[in-house]
Amino acid sequence: MNSVKHMAIIMDGNGRWGLKHRKSRNLGHKEGLKTVEMVMRYCIKNQVKFLTLYAFSTENWKRPLKERNYLFNLLEIYIKEKLEKIHKEKIRIKILGEKNFSKRLNKLLDFAEKKTLKNTRMQINLALNYGSKKELVYAFNKIKKKKRISENDINNSLYTKNIPDPEILIRTGNTQRLSNFLLWQAAYTEIFFEKKLWPDFKNEDLNKIMKRFSKIKRNFGKI
Ligand code: FPP
Repeated sequence: MNSVKHMAIIMDGNGRWGLKHRKSRNLGHKEGLKTVEMVMRYCIKNQVKFLTLYAFSTENWKRPLKERNYLFNLLEIYIKEKLEKIHKEKIRIKILGEKNFSKRLNKLLDFAEKKTLKNTRMQINLALNYGSKKELVYAFNKIKKKKRISENDINNSLYTKNIPDPEILIRTGNTQRLSNFLLWQAAYTEIFFEKKLWPDFKNEDLNKIMKRFSKIKRNFGKI
């Protein structure tokens, strides 16, 4: 039976959900937080040790300032409200990406990472200002002086150092692409594209994915 140590998610479809329900993309982002909570609970319950959420990409800077600010504000409020509980539950928060937000948000993210650093029950990786190509450039620059570069050198220089590659990657929102997410780490990941928009994605959808995953014969090139 395949077990899942690391689940990665592209939480797509918030904007469309918000437009469909109240003509406001931002409402979709707010609603999407409920799904974040649900997935976190699911991972704790099912001993999924690492959960990586694609919350803001390097490409998302192209969105209007108003939407960006709404997202950053949502993140700030969420962390302020939940950090104590997250810490008590022994969950570690790690940011994947370079922190180049407001001084206040950067400080808060640093604080959340430091406060939860030693927690080992579960780890939530928030991919923020994250782009896989940017991450690879960052890694290559760290090791460029080496004569020969090994896979391990690259693994150990990525933002995801010490994090196992994801067994499962889910993208909601009925779009079938990786959008610059974990391109190196997802080399052998099982990918599940979900039609539902992120706020509509529920516990039973995760159950179905886990069930489908458990039945996959993962050969890694063998026969
Ligand atoms: C993609 O949907 C979603 C995002 C760019 C942001 C996701 C952020 C959250 C769910 C809240 C983040 C907070 C925490 C604490 C993780 P989209 O806006 O691209 O949707 P669309 O394809 O319908 O436009």
